[in-house]
Amino acid sequence: MAQQDGDSDRINIAIDGPAGAGKSTVARMVAGQLGYVYIDTGAMYRAVTLSAQRLSITAEQDDNLAEMLESLQIRLAPGESGQSIFVNDEDVTALIRSRDVTRQVSYFAASGIVRQVLSTMQREFAIRKGVVMDGRDIGTHVLPDAEVKVFLTASVEERALRRYKELSDDNIISLKQLEAEIAERDQLDEQRDISPLIRALDAIELDSSGMTILEVVETIVKLSRTKLAEAK
Ligand code: DC
Repeated sequence: MAQQDGDSDRINIAIDGPAGAGKSTVARMVAGQLGYVYIDTGAMYRAVTLSAQRLSITAEQDDNLAEMLESLQIRLAPGESGQSIFVNDEDVTALIRSRDVTRQVSYFAASGIVRQVLSTMQREFAIRKGVVMDGRDIGTHVLPDAEVKVFLTASVEERALRRYKELSDDNIISLKQLEAEIAERDQLDEQRDISPLIRALDAIELDSSGMTILEVVETIVKLSRTKLAEAK
């Protein structure tokens, strides 16, 4: 049966994978090529982490987290360098990339209440289709019906090197330290009880270690166009 409002002309694309695999760059470029909306769900977990830190709430304090989440308005908007994120109208785009947030975010991402609230928000963003969403549990949990699912990986060394090059001068950390932090974060994300980082059975695995960003983007756009043609 035809869907309303041209929804059948669009699909949803889920891009999951570990930290530093290139998901956000790739997802943003795929969205740009298809005229879709890009949604960075990691930024949402980071925004919750920053907000909790400001209120001295820990990842285990469910009641305090629930109360905080009730009044937390998260808004994503296209920004100058990618996506901007606002919490209760404050632009926190740069603040959520601090090392303090980065080191804590996996603990907040393991909280059931946080995942429940953010997953609901993410599904609402995707209801009209035409989104490219990146994260850890998009293909398995948030959008299990996404028409295109990609699991994007790269070696820990390669991912650490990419992050190292992105760091600003006030984030002083060695490459080895960064590798250790990324490996630790992978482990936390893969071993948590709720929606762990795992490849969906129907996701296509792409190892970006030996590929350029453009090659990865082209592969996903091609897959998406094939799905779109099939849906017609
Ligand atoms: O992609 P990122 O590094 O900005 O993600 C930040 C953290 O949030 C990371 O530790 C994994 C977690 N995350 C998650 O658990 N589920 C998602 N859908 C997105 C991110």
